[in-house]
Amino acid sequence: MGNRRVCFITGASSGLGMGLAIRLAQEGYAVGLAARREAQLEEVAEKIREHGGTAGIFPCDVSQRDQVAGAIRRCEEELGPVHLLVANAGVSVNTRVEAFDTMEIERVIRVNLLGAVYATEAVLEGMLNRGQGQIVAVSSIAGFAGLPMSAAYSASKGGMTNFFESLRIDLRGSGVDVTVITPGFVKTPMTDHNQHSMPFLMDLEPAVDLMARAIRKRKKSLAFPWPLAAVVWSARALPRPAYDWLASRVDRRKAPGAGGPVKEG
Ligand SMILES: NC(=O)c1ccc[n+]([C@@H]2O[C@H](COP(=O)([O-])OP(=O)(O)OC[C@H]3O[C@@H](n4cnc5c(N)ncnc54)[C@H](OP(=O)(O)O)[C@@H]3O)[C@@H](O)[C@H]2O)c1
Repeated sequence: MGNRRVCFITGASSGLGMGLAIRLAQEGYAVGLAARREAQLEEVAEKIREHGGTAGIFPCDVSQRDQVAGAIRRCEEELGPVHLLVANAGVSVNTRVEAFDTMEIERVIRVNLLGAVYATEAVLEGMLNRGQGQIVAVSSIAGFAGLPMSAAYSASKGGMTNFFESLRIDLRGSGVDVTVITPGFVKTPMTDHNQHSMPFLMDLEPAVDLMARAIRKRKKSLAFPWPLAAVVWSARALPRPAYDWLASRVDRRKAPGAGGPVKEG
């Protein structure tokens, strides 16, 4: 407890979530770290404490509504009311039509989309009662359009972007801001195993810089890197036959199989 504002961040055990948690702690937030792997969360918390920051770990599986609610309740008891929620936890797999796996599709949507909804549910009432707060959704450029072999991931991220955009409009004037972040390719464990090309791949730190700035400025949205965002966004406007032709140029032979290593964001 203290005077620090509290941030609860999911997916804080690695990659963008870990980088952002450390950065937000440097910026003065007390951070509640959530993910499934407790030991990794403890390492991140230790790093934050070594530099004089405040952090607590609240392990949970974001696809389980009760676990998310419990983790946020414990965080508020330990650190205080959550001012900033960063819904960042996510998984990515390939979806292949020849090995159509509904259970896996459900899992991706449950983690990426419903996990963010469950976390929002747990903080929203408190934020509205206090008349202030910020919710950050870490979605993906893959949600701009249906990408090849990414049906589950594109659906989960498209759903996420639209869900939080709707919420942003509905929360106007309430004191609760919503920031939707759509990254392209960033070097993290999620993209480490990718064998296909990743145009405009960014290092973690510059990506964290951009995200932290957008959060600080309470921006409505951030898409980066802008050249990739512009390409995918423009492709949406093409006639569908042209879009399908262009999108199918992705080299399918290089992509890992369904259920194989995680892939792009
Ligand atoms: N890297 C990119 O190029 C990229 C691009 C666009 C968008 N994104 C998005 O950015 C977010 C972070 O991804 P990243 O690149 O940093 O990947 P990452 O290093 O693999 O991190 C994913 C995080 O999500 C957590 N997570 C996964 N399933 C979970 C579950 N069921 N419950 C709780 N936590 C769970 C993981 O922790 P545990 O395994 O410990 O649970 C981990 O902390 C994701 O939403 C991703 O879709 C990434």
